[in-house]
Amino acid sequence: MYRTHTCGELRLSDNNKKVTLSGWVQKIRDKGSMIWIDLRDRYGVTQLIFEESKTSAEVFNKARELGREFVIQASGKVIERESKNPKMSTGEIEILVDELNILNKAATPPFTIEDKSDGGEEIRMQYRYLDLRREPLKQNLILRHKIAIEVRKYLDSQHFMEIETPYLIKSTPEGARDFVVPSRMNAGQFYALPQSPQTFKQLLMVAGYDKYFQIVRCFRDEDLRADRQPEFTQIDCEMSYVEQEDILNMFEGLAKHLFMAVKGVDIGTFKRMTYDEAMKYYGSDKPDIRFEMKFIELNELVKGKEFKVFDDAELVVGICAEGCSEYTRKQLDELTNFVKRPQVGANGLVYVKYNLDGTLKSSVDKFYSETELKKWAEVFQAKKGDLILVLAGNKEKTQKALNELRLEMGNQLGLRDSKKYAPLWVVNFPMFEWDEDTKRFYAKHHPFTSPVAEDIDKLDTDTANVMANAYDMVINGVEIGGGSIRIHNDSLQQKIFKTLGFTDEEAKEQFGFLLDAFKYGAPPHGGLALGFDRLCAMFGGTDSIRDYIAFPKNNSGRDVMINSPSNISKAQLDELNILLKK
Ligand code: AMO
Repeated sequence: MYRTHTCGELRLSDNNKKVTLSGWVQKIRDKGSMIWIDLRDRYGVTQLIFEESKTSAEVFNKARELGREFVIQASGKVIERESKNPKMSTGEIEILVDELNILNKAATPPFTIEDKSDGGEEIRMQYRYLDLRREPLKQNLILRHKIAIEVRKYLDSQHFMEIETPYLIKSTPEGARDFVVPSRMNAGQFYALPQSPQTFKQLLMVAGYDKYFQIVRCFRDEDLRADRQPEFTQIDCEMSYVEQEDILNMFEGLAKHLFMAVKGVDIGTFKRMTYDEAMKYYGSDKPDIRFEMKFIELNELVKGKEFKVFDDAELVVGICAEGCSEYTRKQLDELTNFVKRPQVGANGLVYVKYNLDGTLKSSVDKFYSETELKKWAEVFQAKKGDLILVLAGNKEKTQKALNELRLEMGNQLGLRDSKKYAPLWVVNFPMFEWDEDTKRFYAKHHPFTSPVAEDIDKLDTDTANVMANAYDMVINGVEIGGGSIRIHNDSLQQKIFKTLGFTDEEAKEQFGFLLDAFKYGAPPHGGLALGFDRLCAMFGGTDSIRDYIAFPKNNSGRDVMINSPSNISKAQLDELNILLKK
């Protein structure tokens, strides 16, 4: 038997017990006649003690041979520690070792296996299995496991069935880029890895499995960011005989259950906001509503005063940062530089300080008198001590830039507390998005989303203004999930494909199986998918989903541990009928 107990288990009540532990050597302190070793396993750390006067010479000498991360088995007696460590759950005891077995030696690890490691990101990714030994990453994976268990518990209690769908499917031109897999048996043909099980879950509805879910891997070949991985996990769900309201209630219930069961937090009722409101007041379809600082549009107030920047702008819009009128020149310059960064994209920043003495001072004093600035302050409901920040330009770009500035001010003012949660449903998304480059409409959500019934007539005449029966779950400014009520009628589905620029043949070739299925009694249905990795990161209080995935990819989409992607042999290429470009 390798162990009688784990390294996180023994307490003072176990005093005098004879025990055997196995684990990794975390730390060695050799004080000559005494050696202490911290022994670590998944469950915790227990201190071992070797005393020259009490331990046999053979065991004592063996202890001297140990190095960091050696795998050992130690037997001995639980004794009370002289100096206790209240920070450790096992801190009141230690094991006086009388038998020691080296189960495996270890090379010196390339970085320290401590909460705060001395290793940089790249090296830790390369030795991910060592990084995963560290407590913070271990806690992240435990959290992920707990959330998965609670998801299954809740959805099972609501009569959902977990059903697997295939990973080798078919490439489609919509959405992100596909990862493709060549087929050996079908020369020149390719599978694609699913970007989501969207069409399969709809087919399961046609098949009569009226509540489906799956914790499922999805694959998208897109640019990576902190909240995006090329393979990521969704909590994918679909229901039949439901309207939007049924789905919002069901998954609000799931989110509330998870926060309560995993974090003991009541996140309260979800607010609701239309897409138009979100864009107008926050410049984002995923607003962080932990704080207000809403956008105020100034077009009518500021135009016609000879200030060309405002006169030429499609939109002049600002926010009021409470208590920031004392910002220094340097701080204001930094904010200006912030908004001018290419990622933010504004041309400049106009500010108005509503000083504590009641005077108003702006960066555009040449064009606007103090009386005029007073009017600005009124529309912002600014108080003495506040700072008004204004951007101008093309509507979309300016909204986007002010969103970034609002979030930055939220950070600077400490309004984005990771322990506070502000959940939100964003509803009434537009159905289509126009793309100037390709001169065609794209589905804002996906082509299977149903337009709202009132707008079906507008599909040909007023395409841009057709609203979708779609919704996003947003928490603290993060898009946690999204979904829609689907089309379940083949002629409407065909019509949408046509609006998206598919010919009848293309629609049949790509999605004929779905159009066919809709002919055989498709029930009304809808659903959503939550980003499981994002949910885990939110529960853990960080933005980076990579820390919640056991073996993630780096920013170039590489797994630097196994060194993938990699070349394949000429023989493999030949077998797959693939000729590489020189
Ligand atoms: P959507 O594309 O909005 O919807 O994806 C659902 C959720 O998945 C998460 N997500 C990601 N997480 C990590 N890395 C990525 N690259 C990534 N891409 C998306 C987000 C997102 O909200 N089939 C539809 C859902 C439906 O209609 O039911 C779909 O996939 O949290």
